[in-house]
Amino acid sequence: MAASSFYSLILLISLLSTTFTSMQGFIDDRLIQQVVSSDGRDDLLTSAEHQFSAFKKKYGKTYPTQDEEDYRFGVFISNLRRARRNQMMDPTAVHGVTKFSDLTPSEFGRRYLGSGRQIQLSKDLSKGPILPTDDLPLTMNWTAKGAVTPVKNQGTCDGCWAFSTIAVLEGAHFLANGQLFNLSEQQLIDCSTECNKNGKVCNHGCEGGNRVLAFKYMENSGGVVQAKNYRFIGNNSGLCNVTENSQIVASLCRFHLIEDDHDQYAANLVKHGPIAVSIPIKFLPAQTYTGGVFCPQVNCMSNEITRHAVVLVGYNNGTSTDSDQKKVFSWIVKNSWGNDWGEGGFFRVCRGLLKACGNHPVALYAIAKNNTTGSCA
Ligand SMILES: *[C@@H]1O[C@H](CO)[C@@H](O)[C@H](O)[C@H]1NC(C)=O
Ligand SMILES: *[C@@H]1O[C@H](CO)[C@@H](O)[C@H](O)[C@H]1NC(C)=O
Ligand SMILES: *[C@@H]1O[C@H](CO)[C@@H](O)[C@H](O)[C@H]1NC(C)=O
Ligand SMILES: *[C@@H]1O[C@H](CO)[C@@H](O)[C@H](O)[C@H]1NC(C)=O
Ligand SMILES: *[C@@H]1O[C@H](CO)[C@@H](O)[C@H](O)[C@H]1NC(C)=O
Ligand SMILES: *[C@@H]1O[C@H](CO)[C@@H](O)[C@H](O)[C@H]1NC(C)=O
Ligand SMILES: *[C@@H]1O[C@H](CO)[C@@H](O)[C@H](O)[C@H]1NC(C)=O
Repeated sequence: MAASSFYSLILLISLLSTTFTSMQGFIDDRLIQQVVSSDGRDDLLTSAEHQFSAFKKKYGKTYPTQDEEDYRFGVFISNLRRARRNQMMDPTAVHGVTKFSDLTPSEFGRRYLGSGRQIQLSKDLSKGPILPTDDLPLTMNWTAKGAVTPVKNQGTCDGCWAFSTIAVLEGAHFLANGQLFNLSEQQLIDCSTECNKNGKVCNHGCEGGNRVLAFKYMENSGGVVQAKNYRFIGNNSGLCNVTENSQIVASLCRFHLIEDDHDQYAANLVKHGPIAVSIPIKFLPAQTYTGGVFCPQVNCMSNEITRHAVVLVGYNNGTSTDSDQKKVFSWIVKNSWGNDWGEGGFFRVCRGLLKACGNHPVALYAIAKNNTTGSCA
């Protein structure tokens, strides 16, 4: 290579590196790697240390030993790098430090992404009618309408199936009665232990379960008590503590599968309140998510697709706030990882992601009883 073109290449590289923010990210990434290899750049070490101490303070983290703390600091630094990578692959979301930033990806997966058991819904469920979709509002947000309780925290209990279906009953009860109750997931975890017809799929409390079996339990048991009367303890108590004296406040009339189509999801959400869905959670970079709209490219080749049960509580069919004003559609989703993750415990995903990886039915709605009349709409 001639000397002149060599120098223009150098010039080009230095121009690029000051121009592109992604390039800047790459450089920061390299600097963090240098921090890890501790080559004496104390200023950078201080910056990562500063972020780590802000993280510990914000989430009240303490570690039993200095060794553990040092180890967690190393994990934290690799998660900063991972957040930066996720940011490039998922630009409509914002990735950064979260309450999960001191966990390795496999610790996070084991604790929060479920057992890996495939939770299939049977296809013989009763489908709701096809609804008209021409007059749907541009935005829908059931939280703003008072149909959604504060975000809950399943902790390390793999009980997303109970949190998802309870949130649907809370919303349906609100629509039928005009009143919002915080209902008990623990009742489902302890009492909804049935299996399906062939005995192959059963509910296992905090070891995983199935939304359809949970709705069947609600349908057959008479209803659900308030959370304050049957508190969440985060494990299987081994005893179903519902008696004749238990004060059931919300009852399910019936539930239906929604036609597997986005516009039908939206129409049913508008008509019936929050709906239960399951998402291919391993493809969302949830450990580093701090807000915005998840929309990563997903590779569905893996045959171990864990689905996480959550609740659709709204959507936005408007334009983005970006300067290019391109049309975007996003779902507003309530999770059960506490209100100190994502957007106050909620997250948003782009349209395609909901049905990504496997075309099996995912969405269910419910109708609750009007407790004054005892009638079902
Ligand atoms: C939905 O409504 C709630 C309550 O008004 C609000 O805090 C939240 O930001 C809204 N969500 C979206 C995505 O607009
Ligand atoms: C429930 O039924 C009562 C009695 O008919 C009625 O007054 C009330 O409006 C109903 N609630 C809703 C939300 O429809
Ligand atoms: C609602 O119930 C959950 C447990 O299911 C509990 O953790 C939470 O504190 C309750 N929230 C309110 C606002 O009562
Ligand atoms: C379940 O949780 C409760 C309350 O936190 C605790 O007292 C109990 O020992 C736990 N049971 C098991 C089997 O872990
Ligand atoms: C069962 O629930 C009642 C309240 O409904 C409570 O007083 C009692 O302590 C509970 N028993 C157990 C074993 O949790
Ligand atoms: C979103 O808006 C487009 C028109 O811009 C419409 O065709 C589509 O049906 C809407 N989708 C939903 C779910 O409202
Ligand atoms: C219906 O809900 C209201 C509000 O909590 C309650 O006061 C009333 O006792 C309930 N009625 C029945 C029949 O459960």
